[in-house]
Amino acid sequence: MNNTEIINLAFESSCDDFSCSVLLKNERGVKILSNVIYSQDFVHGIYGGVVPELASRNHIKASLPALRIALEESGVNLKHVNIISATAGPGLVGSLLIGLMEAKTLSFALNIPLVKVNHIEGHIFSPFLENPEIFPFIALVISGGHTHIYLVKSHSDIKLVGRTRDDACGELFDKVSNHLGFGYPGGGTIDKLAEKGDKDAFNFPLPMLHSHNLDMSFSGLKTAVISTINNLGGPGKIKQDTICDIAASVREAVAKVLYKKIADTCDIYGIDIIIVSGGVSANSRIRTIFAEYERNKGAKVLFPSISLSADNAAMIGYAGYFKPAVDPVKNKEEFLNINADSSWEL
Ligand code: KG4
Ligand code: ZN
Repeated sequence: MNNTEIINLAFESSCDDFSCSVLLKNERGVKILSNVIYSQDFVHGIYGGVVPELASRNHIKASLPALRIALEESGVNLKHVNIISATAGPGLVGSLLIGLMEAKTLSFALNIPLVKVNHIEGHIFSPFLENPEIFPFIALVISGGHTHIYLVKSHSDIKLVGRTRDDACGELFDKVSNHLGFGYPGGGTIDKLAEKGDKDAFNFPLPMLHSHNLDMSFSGLKTAVISTINNLGGPGKIKQDTICDIAASVREAVAKVLYKKIADTCDIYGIDIIIVSGGVSANSRIRTIFAEYERNKGAKVLFPSISLSADNAAMIGYAGYFKPAVDPVKNKEEFLNINADSSWEL
């Protein structure tokens, strides 16, 4: 190892995934050496959504094995780690605390500087784990908790320019999936069903499509889809083909709204580089509609690869490289005050 190499140990635990990653940065860029993710889908699926207390209890069980395996897979010894990064918000406070306190304890015990990272920053920059950096860009972060549009000029110049006023689009997919009896999380299931359906079968509303701002809304669309399911006899009474048509139609409505809002954002700010990230960015129709955008408008659209679109610690480590680190000895007071902030806004 030489002086230009920085080894970063990263933690992400903001919701129901516990993840630990080891990264290396040198003059060639950032490389992921390991990225271990403990998913709890099997824990929360039966409840139809994340149960916060269960999430944090399961994080406690995953926290040390995740660290051990991430170090083993990377071949890195703790004594070679130069910085530690951890998500400090937004998210579920009990969940955040498990990863952040593990990071803080290691930082204090081993005297390694600690970087606190905003979860959304992790998503925004995640495509740069696999692509060269390029600024400025418009970032569309779509997940279970976010449907937000940012104007990003640098690692530290990030401005929120549009957002959902109610449900996130991931939440809409999860609720429709739950109502149909497919459980949580439902985005992937709706996406698979949609592949076999007709996207024009149902004419669902396209909320706030022509509003004179960059905000969005998905709760009306959710109500329209659930009412349609109920009017067709309710969950369990609908033919499989019709379920696929519903899935394809709701997926299309979401994709169209996102496409239009991003087209408006790019026009307003005169930018033609777009990043689409967050768990919902795994959606196949959203990926194809933005590929069409790229072709039609001569724009550049970057997605994280599917495995890096959902919550993971590698993206937190990446963002952590570009933020100030707090030294546990030199900045003791600042260090001791680092805490989880469940509603940390960028
Ligand atoms: O970013 P993420 O892992 O966690 C949050 O920060 O919320 O995103 C999880 C969300 C869930 O709502 C899940 O249903 C959705 O991403 N999701 C998808 C797909 N895969 C996961 N939504 C649509 N299509 C998919 N293929
Ligand atoms: Zn996320």
